[in-house]
Amino acid sequence: MNQRAFTPPAWSISDREFDQLSRTIHRYSGIVIGPEKRGMIRARLQKRLVALQLDTLAEYLDIVSGVSGRAERERFVSSLTTNVTSFFREKHHFAFLVEAILPALGDTTRPIRIWSAGCSSGQEPYSIAMSVLDAHPEMAQRLSILGSDIDADVLAKARRGIYAGSSLTGISDDFRSRFFEPVEDGRGTDLRIRAQLRDLVTYQQINLNAGWPISEKFDVIFCRNTAIYFAPQTQCLLWRKFHDVLRPGGWLLIGHSERVPAECHHLLQPAGITAYQKPG
Ligand SMILES: C[S@@+](CC[C@H](N)C(=O)[O-])C[C@H]1O[C@@H](n2cnc3c(N)ncnc32)[C@H](O)[C@@H]1O
Repeated sequence: MNQRAFTPPAWSISDREFDQLSRTIHRYSGIVIGPEKRGMIRARLQKRLVALQLDTLAEYLDIVSGVSGRAERERFVSSLTTNVTSFFREKHHFAFLVEAILPALGDTTRPIRIWSAGCSSGQEPYSIAMSVLDAHPEMAQRLSILGSDIDADVLAKARRGIYAGSSLTGISDDFRSRFFEPVEDGRGTDLRIRAQLRDLVTYQQINLNAGWPISEKFDVIFCRNTAIYFAPQTQCLLWRKFHDVLRPGGWLLIGHSERVPAECHHLLQPAGITAYQKPG
C-alpha cells in the first residue's frame, strides 16, 4: 500500500517566531539572518516539517530550542548555509601563496600546516594542495591541510572529492590530467581528485563560533567568504582567534568583501589584497 505523502497544514512565520529562529541560528553559528531571508527560511522549514511529520512551526521551535535539539539545530543551520565555491576562486590568493608565502616557508624544514576554514565542498583546500604540489613538489612530504566547515553535508562531498567535469572551469588541462582521474561510473562525466592530493587534506567539522579542537599552530589560514555572514563583533572575535592559532609570521587570507579592521592591525598587519600577516 502506498503511504500518503505528509503535508503540513498551511502555515506562516509570525514576527515572534522569526525572531526566535534567527536568535537560535545566531547563537549556534554566528550567522546573521536578516528579515529579507524570511521566504527562504520558510521554504527550508517546510522541508524539515515534512521530514519530521510536524504540524506546526511551534512544535519545530520546541525541538530546535530544546536541550536535546542539537542534531536538528545542526541540520537546520546546514540547510541555511551558503556553500557556493569553486576551484581557484579569487585566484590572486593562490598566486600569493606560490610567489610570496611558500618561498618564505621553503627556508625552513618543519611541517607546513594550512587551514581552509569554511571550506565548503573541498574546492578551496584542493586548490591549495594543487598549488603547492605544482610549484614545490618537494614540500608535499611536510604539508598538511585542514579543511573545516560547520556543515556535515558539504564535508562529506569534500571527503569524496568527486566533481562534475563541467565545474572544473578554473582548471588548466595540465592540472586536470595531473590531479584528477575519471570516475569509473560508466558515464565518464565526473572526475575524482587523485589520492596523492586527497591524502594531503583532512576534514573536520568545526563551528568557527564555538570552541576549536586545534592544538597546533598554522602557517596559513584561508577563511574566505565565510565571515561575511557574521556580525561585525563576531568577525572581530574570529580575527583574534585566528591570530592566536597562527605562527608568528603566519598569514590570514580572507574573502574579497571582508576586511580585518584597523583596530586589529597590530595583531594582523595588511600584507596584500585581503591578505594579513601576524607580526613575526
Ligand atoms: C560561501 S562558502 C565559502 C567557501 C570557500 N571558502 C570559498 O571562498 O569558496 C561559506 C562556508 O562557510 C560555512 N560556514 C558558515 N558558518 C560557519 C560557521 N559558523 N563555522 C564554520 N563554517 C561556517 C558554510 O557552511 C559554507 O560552506
